[in-house]
Order: sequence, then C-alpha cells, then structure tokens
Amino acid sequence: MTRQPMVAGNWKMNKLTGPAVELAAAVKRGVGTRTDVQVVLCPPFTALKVVAEVVARSPIRLGAQNMHWEAEGAFTGEISAAMLRDVGCEFVILGHSERRAGFQESDALVNRKVCAALQAGLTPIVCVGETLAEREAGQTWTVVTRQVRASLAELKPEQLRRTVIAYEPVWAIGTGRTATPAQAQEVQALIRAVLGELGDGATAQAIRILYGGSVKPANARDLFRQPDIDGGLIGGASLDAAAFLEIIGAACRE
Ligand code: PGA
Repeated sequence: MTRQPMVAGNWKMNKLTGPAVELAAAVKRGVGTRTDVQVVLCPPFTALKVVAEVVARSPIRLGAQNMHWEAEGAFTGEISAAMLRDVGCEFVILGHSERRAGFQESDALVNRKVCAALQAGLTPIVCVGETLAEREAGQTWTVVTRQVRASLAELKPEQLRRTVIAYEPVWAIGTGRTATPAQAQEVQALIRAVLGELGDGATAQAIRILYGGSVKPANARDLFRQPDIDGGLIGGASLDAAAFLEIIGAACRE
C-alpha cells in the first residue's frame, strides 16, 4: 500500500490577509505542478478566502484549523463545516492540543466535530499526542490509544479511510524539541495498530499518519523516512516559504 505523503501548514493565529497572500503565492511558485506530495495550507479563518483564490488551479489544497460540530444556528462566533466548504476548504484540523488544552476540547467533542466534518465532505486531520508529564509517567500509549479510539468512535471504515491522523507530542510543539524518528515511529505504529482494531488491516494501511512538533528542514527527512510517518503537520516552519518548501521536498518518496 503506498500512501501519498502529505505536508500541511498550520499557520495558527498568524498572517493578516496581505502577508497570507504573499506566503501562499510563494508556496504555490515552489510547489509548481508537483503532486507526489499533497500540500495543504491551513490559514486562519479570515485568510481562507484570499488564500483559496491564490491556490486555485494549483495542486495545493486548503484547510481550516477548527470548526463547530453543528450545521448552523445560534452559535455566536462559530464556523460550520458548510461554511468552510463554501470558501474552498477540503481539510480541517481537529483536536489540536492547543484547542484541547486552551479551549477544553474533550475526545467526545473532537469526535462530534470529526463526524460533522466527514458528513459535510471535509477531510479531518485529527491531532493526538501526550504531554511531557504523561510521557514521563509512562502513559504515552494509554493516552494516545484513548485519544484515537474516542476521537474516531463510531466511524465507518469508509469514513476512517478518509481521515488523516496527526501525532503531535505536546512537548514537541513549538518548543524546538522534536521527537526522535524512532520515538515518533514507535507511537505511529501503535496508532496504525489501533486503527486496524477500529476498522480493518487494509483500512489501517490506507490511512495517512502525519508527525507534528518542531518539524524543520534539518530533521524532516529522517522523520519522514520512517515507515509509519506519512508526512507532517508543520507549525512554525510553515510560516517561512523556503523552509516549508524544503520540508515538502523531504516528504517525497524517492
Ligand atoms: P510546530 O507546531 O511545528 O511549531 O511545533 C506544530 C503544530 O502545532 O501543528
């Protein structure tokens, strides 16, 4: 089973519309017509539409960083899956640790969002990962297994196959402290085994599992060489076109 590698840029709460257009245009120039790696840009909500216009008629795909689980209604300040589709999104990051920690997003809530995203035709990029305290207490496997099982509860095999997982150890996000390729591979192989229990072996082999947490041009190649690492979810380094393009280059399977 060959899974198409994927590199997604999570811009977080960065970039006004002007700089967003410049960054997207630079990435588009660098990506050209390459399709060996699937490139996804996830700007903040306010820049989705302008970035959609820049990457139209290019292989680059658009993603959002969050959404609400309800289709519409009295949810002041929230954005629905249909709204994301309306501005050109095909992907949405869900359950990022910054949302789990800062906005009290539980596994059950992430699961509602995942189901709503899939129903609306979006591909969820579901983030899981342990904190430093959990790793040091030897709980990495328990925590990650629980997050994967609960976040993906009730998904049909066909829906599981359309889902992307991002393993992001919380202690590696924005800290400059990357998991070693062996550490990341160990957990990502476990995640694939859990996916096999949720669906079946073929489904588990088809699902892309990204690594995220301080991925840089200098460490990307060694990480992406691991058998269960199918690309990356990139934060800080995705704000710099040259660095992001180098990481994309590192993801291609020679
Ligand atoms: P980082 O962020 O690359 O800046 O560590 C990754 C993420 O939070 O998705």
